[in-house]
Amino acid sequence: MSQPACITTPIYYVNDRPHIGHAYTTTICDVWARSQRMIGRDVFFLTGTDEHGVKVEKSAQARGIPPQELADENAAEFQRVLATFALTNSDFIRTTQPRHVEQVQTLLRQLMKTGDVYLGTFEGWYDEGQEEYHTENRARELNYLSPISGKPLVRATEQNYYFRLSAFADRLAKHFADHPTFVRPVERANEMLGRMRDGLQDVPITRTNFSWGIAMPDAPGHVVYVWIDALLNYITALGLGTTPSAPESKLRDRSRYWPADYHVVGKEILWFHAVIWPALLMALELPLPKCVYAHSFWIADGQKMSKSLGNFVDLPTIERYTSVYGLDAWRWYMATQGPLAATDADFKAKHFHEIYTNDLVNTVGNCPSRVGAMIGKYFGGKLPSDSHNGGEWPHRCKATVDKWERCMEVFDLVGAARAGMDLFHQVDVMINDTEPFKLAKDPANTPRLSSILNQCAQTVRIAGLLLEPFLPQRMADLQSAFGGVGSGKSDWSSRKKYGAIPDGHPIEKIALFPRVDGAIAVQPASAG
Ligand code: MSP
Repeated sequence: MSQPACITTPIYYVNDRPHIGHAYTTTICDVWARSQRMIGRDVFFLTGTDEHGVKVEKSAQARGIPPQELADENAAEFQRVLATFALTNSDFIRTTQPRHVEQVQTLLRQLMKTGDVYLGTFEGWYDEGQEEYHTENRARELNYLSPISGKPLVRATEQNYYFRLSAFADRLAKHFADHPTFVRPVERANEMLGRMRDGLQDVPITRTNFSWGIAMPDAPGHVVYVWIDALLNYITALGLGTTPSAPESKLRDRSRYWPADYHVVGKEILWFHAVIWPALLMALELPLPKCVYAHSFWIADGQKMSKSLGNFVDLPTIERYTSVYGLDAWRWYMATQGPLAATDADFKAKHFHEIYTNDLVNTVGNCPSRVGAMIGKYFGGKLPSDSHNGGEWPHRCKATVDKWERCMEVFDLVGAARAGMDLFHQVDVMINDTEPFKLAKDPANTPRLSSILNQCAQTVRIAGLLLEPFLPQRMADLQSAFGGVGSGKSDWSSRKKYGAIPDGHPIEKIALFPRVDGAIAVQPASAG
């Protein structure tokens, strides 16, 4: 049995409606989760909502409703979106659930016992929008302005419980040095190392100025800082904070999924995930996640997306894209054109349309349609035999599958997508070079024609397989049109093998991705 796999998204704030930022992170995690399930791993894919904190409290106040009501409403909306986008998360954790709250309290008690959490007084530069303190150095670097909202940082003093982050500086530095891929991409790891060199100060982990949060155990008036509460979701979902007698201890069965393979997060929340979170885990004597992957941002038509500019790709906009181009097309654009690397990616309606047309209509759609049409026309829709045993194709396919597996392992979704596309391109090249439609004119060529079309079909099936995590709906159609073999039930080693479609098996001509008229395509986000 191969190793269990675990991937997580950040848990999303419930004071916001779902938008491209959430859709992006969740979609790329979904692609990876599907890929690992496909190769036979037992996958746990976690997402959920972050429901406590001042921001949520204030948003609820502004609407005149209790924070729990706001949380319920928006958590339901996030869950609805997961379902309509066919995202395959294994669980949806909400930080107001008793299973989470109880474990957070257990874990904090443990940290108080070890002395990693203590009561102290703190003064610092506070970013009210982000609910985050900055060190003097960092605040100076930021010109005493929030890097997110641009609003001035405020000087704040509090008596609070602290997490002894400073005690973990050496161990963290060593962990980064020993595990060069702990934080990716490398640019982001360097950024974290740079900030760590400024020194690590203890972090206040409770507040007394608000009430919408988890009560600090045995400390009346103190509420757990939302970020500490939120980070712990990654292990409370797996039951790692349970005591054997607690009702939620059955969650413990999930402990096999820890440590996570990937925490996928946006770059603006990396410090919490790459520095504070590992230190907390060290204090709790738990293993660290294998990799914290920080993606960059989507921008819109060259500009930062923001509510005030009104150019945020929000849910209604996303839904317009999925209704015009289909859900698979949306996933494809997210996964292959998104800000996975250290640079931001520009979301443009025209670019979306071009990628759809070039990759999906002209390549992934057209190639199987050509192959299916020729098998239909020349061989009555039954797979002709190949007297050459695939020629060089078995080797080419295997090399490509290997490459895809390696890319997926390291979360190189773009590389994995390219591997699948590459096989479609190679089939197109073979068709263009051998011109089966000319060969078909002379019956003497039948054996050759038969081999060529068999090789095309066998290769198309594998190419489709490699794109299945990206394009689950259309690639399921492709698999059934191309022999229906090796569907979800079979194991990976037989599915990935060249030549799985038996001779004589029906092959259908299918239209996977309809051409979309550019003129009726979706308006840019800013016009929506
Ligand atoms: N609640 C915290 C995370 C706690 S995790 C223990 C949080 N929530 S959030 O709702 O603000 O998360 C937003 C996620 O969406 C982040 O990963 C963020 O990077 C991502 N995005 C928000 N805007 C984005 C873009 N414009 N582009 C891509 N992703 C961005 O932070």
